[in-house]
Amino acid sequence: MLGFVWLMLLAYAGLVVPASSQDHNNNKNIFILAGQSNMSGRGGINNLTWDGVVPPQCQPNPAILRLSSELKWVQASEPLHKDIDVNVTCGVGPGMVFANTVLHKKDSSIRGVVGLVPCAVGGTKGTKISEWGRGTYLYNQLLRRASAALQDGGGSIQAVLWYQGESDTVNLQDAALYKGRLERFFMDLRADLQSPLLPIIQVALASGQGAYIEKVREAQLGIHLAHVKCVDAKGLQLEPDHLHLTTQAEVQLGKMLADAFLHTLPTPLQSNAPKTSHN
Ligand SMILES: *[C@@H]1O[C@H](CO)[C@@H](O)[C@H](O)[C@H]1NC(C)=O
Ligand SMILES: *[C@@H]1O[C@H](CO)[C@@H](O)[C@H](O)[C@H]1NC(C)=O
Ligand SMILES: *[C@@H]1O[C@H](CO)[C@@H](O)[C@H](O)[C@H]1NC(C)=O
Repeated sequence: MLGFVWLMLLAYAGLVVPASSQDHNNNKNIFILAGQSNMSGRGGINNLTWDGVVPPQCQPNPAILRLSSELKWVQASEPLHKDIDVNVTCGVGPGMVFANTVLHKKDSSIRGVVGLVPCAVGGTKGTKISEWGRGTYLYNQLLRRASAALQDGGGSIQAVLWYQGESDTVNLQDAALYKGRLERFFMDLRADLQSPLLPIIQVALASGQGAYIEKVREAQLGIHLAHVKCVDAKGLQLEPDHLHLTTQAEVQLGKMLADAFLHTLPTPLQSNAPKTSHN
C-alpha cells in the first residue's frame, strides 16, 4: 500500500514510472501522434519563445503518460513534443486536450491510463508525406516508438492522430501524389502495427505553405478507408505568423479529435496491435 502511494507520488511529480511496478497502468490506452508542426504544437510561440501558457484543458494528470524520447513512460505535460521535434521551439499542440477530453467525457469508453506517443516532426522546414513513407527515418521512428509503447504488455494502441500535408501544398506534383501516398502510408502503418482496422483520425488543413492547398484538402477529405476519420481545421485561428494554430485553436482541435474518436468510431475498439514486437 505504501509502495503504491509512493508510486502515485512519483507519477504525480512527473518522474519515470518504473515499468516493473506499474500495475495500475496495465491497461494503457495508447495513442500515436504524428505529422508535422501543428500536431507537434506551436501554440503560444512568439519570436521563437514559448509563452508557457497552459490552458486548463491541457493540464497534466497522473492518468496521462507520454513516451519520452528515451522510450520511458513519464507523466505528460506541455509541450508534448519537446524532446521529439528537437530542432525548433515547441508549444501547445492538440495531444493533452485530446487525452483530457477522452478521459473525462461521460460517454467515454476509455478507462484507466492514456499513454501518448508523440512522433510528430515539423522541424525547421516541415515534413512532406514522402518523408513519412514506409522505410523512411520518420516511419521507422514511429514504429520503434509504437513497439516500445507496447513493450511492457500494458495496453493497446487505440488510434493514430495524424496532422500533416502543409509541406505538400508547395509543388503540384507533391499535391497530385498526395492522396495515393497518404492512403499507402495509412495502410502500411496498419499492416506494420498488425492492426488492420486501427482507427486513424486525421486533420484537413485550413491553409498551407503553398498554392495547392485545395488539392491536398480534397485528398484528405476524400479518403474512404474504414475507420479513417477526418476533422477539418478550416476556420481555426492562426498565430500572427499565419502559419501555426494558436493555443486556443489547438484546444479546439484537441476536442474535435476527441469527439471524432469517441463518437464516429465504433466502441469498444478492438486493437489487434501486438503486445510485443515480433517478425
Ligand atoms: C519579437 O521581437 C521583435 C524584435 O526583437 C520585437 O520588435 C517584437 O516586439 C517581438 N514580438 C513579440 C510578440 O514579443
Ligand atoms: C535536427 O537537425 C539535425 C541536423 O540538421 C538532423 O540531422 C536531425 O534529423 C533533425 N532532427 C529532427 C527531429 O528534426
Ligand atoms: C498549421 O495548420 C494551419 C491550419 O490547418 C495551416 O493553415 C498551416 O499551414 C499549418 N502550418 C504549418 C506550418 O504546417
